Amino acid sequence: MKTKGALLWEPGTNSGWSVEEIEVDPPKRREVMVKLAASGICHSDQHLDDGVIPLPWSPVLGGHEGAGVVTELGPETEGLEVGDHVVLSFLPSCGRCKMCVSGKSNMCDLGNGVLAGVAPDGTHRVHARGKGVGCMSYLGTFAPYVTVPVDAVVKIEKDIPLDKAALIGCGVPTGWGSSVYAADMQLGDTVVIVGIGGVGINAVQGARHKGARNIIAIDPVPFKQEQAQAFGATHAVGSYEEAAKLVEQMTNGQGADRVIITVGVAYGNLLNPAQEMTRRGGVMVLTSAAPIMQRDMEFDLFTFAMSGKRLQGSLYGTTNSRNDIPLMTELYRTGQLKLDELITKTYKLEDINQAFTDMQEGKNLRGVIMYDD
Ligand SMILES: NC(=O)c1ccc[n+]([C@@H]2O[C@H](COP(=O)([O-])OP(=O)(O)OC[C@H]3O[C@@H](n4cnc5c(N)ncnc54)[C@H](O)[C@@H]3O)[C@@H](O)[C@H]2O)c1
Ligand SMILES: [Zn+2]
Ligand SMILES: [Zn+2]
Repeated sequence: MKTKGALLWEPGTNSGWSVEEIEVDPPKRREVMVKLAASGICHSDQHLDDGVIPLPWSPVLGGHEGAGVVTELGPETEGLEVGDHVVLSFLPSCGRCKMCVSGKSNMCDLGNGVLAGVAPDGTHRVHARGKGVGCMSYLGTFAPYVTVPVDAVVKIEKDIPLDKAALIGCGVPTGWGSSVYAADMQLGDTVVIVGIGGVGINAVQGARHKGARNIIAIDPVPFKQEQAQAFGATHAVGSYEEAAKLVEQMTNGQGADRVIITVGVAYGNLLNPAQEMTRRGGVMVLTSAAPIMQRDMEFDLFTFAMSGKRLQGSLYGTTNSRNDIPLMTELYRTGQLKLDELITKTYKLEDINQAFTDMQEGKNLRGVIMYDD
């Protein structure tokens, strides 16, 4: 099918997205075609352009946060029908590998291939200017039609608005799960969340959900501070130093139970200030992507060991998409998870570069591309 898509021809060079004609193949074995309603703008796609996540191949069709309606089924796609409403999980889960069957589907073996630039069978589903196009996370949601593996497709109820459901493809579970699962948050915790973007704002929602007593949001952008409070943060400040003072007062100098890092880019100097704010035995969670070749980090290892703290990485918020995506739609339906308010601004695909500029200037919780044709 001929359609349009936003491509990077030179990933890692900050050259921006080119919206142009693409050809999307029909689904093969264990694949379906989905007509998308919307795609969220996540910082991880920015990382393809700025090189924080380097790709050794091109071109790439970006986008990994989408939801829509199934329009065509390939062979062996039992359980799905044309017309089904689905969220696309940015990490596929096969349901059969060791990690999937042990309840850690964010670690599914299939996830190893999501940046390989080809579909799981090693071929391309998208073509442009006569070349095979790789798709971000096997998805490529910066196009109104996508052909995707069934292992990345999660069916949802038809009453959930699809543009809101799109955010459950990445930012919502990643942030919410970073609090609920990765940080193992407990009732009454004092929590610090560093960086209030599409991911961090959902970490605020997760902290609230788990009954955190104090939720301190850090972001230098005043709009983000206001939004954090609207989503349930008890305090919002602009810097680590201000947060550290609050934590000290609130905990009689004990420190925060959990510190969750969701800034746009994780640099090596972010972790030690987080550790200084964390109580003995507390947990630090790192969700942000870091420049892939970065190896240096300032970190007081003596204190780390001798105070029994834990540093926990968080991929997809440690969620299990087949369980947690339907759960989050249910929490939304019952008023326990905000989705509508996450969308600060909508864009046409043609305005995608403006959407990324707005994200980097801190104007949006989430910008969302709407496909209405
Ligand atoms: N681990 C995963 O599975 C996963 C999934 C999705 C996104 N990510 C990563 O999470 C990060 C956040 O993504 P996003 O879409 O929310 O980004 P975003 O651009 O929407 O938000 C980042 C926020 O961090 C703030 N910030 C930047 N530096 C800061 C600092 N030093 N202190 C406090 N706040 C600071 C910015 O003002 C902005 O509000 C990115 O690195 C992204 O690649 C990881
Ligand atoms: Zn993402
Ligand atoms: Zn698996």
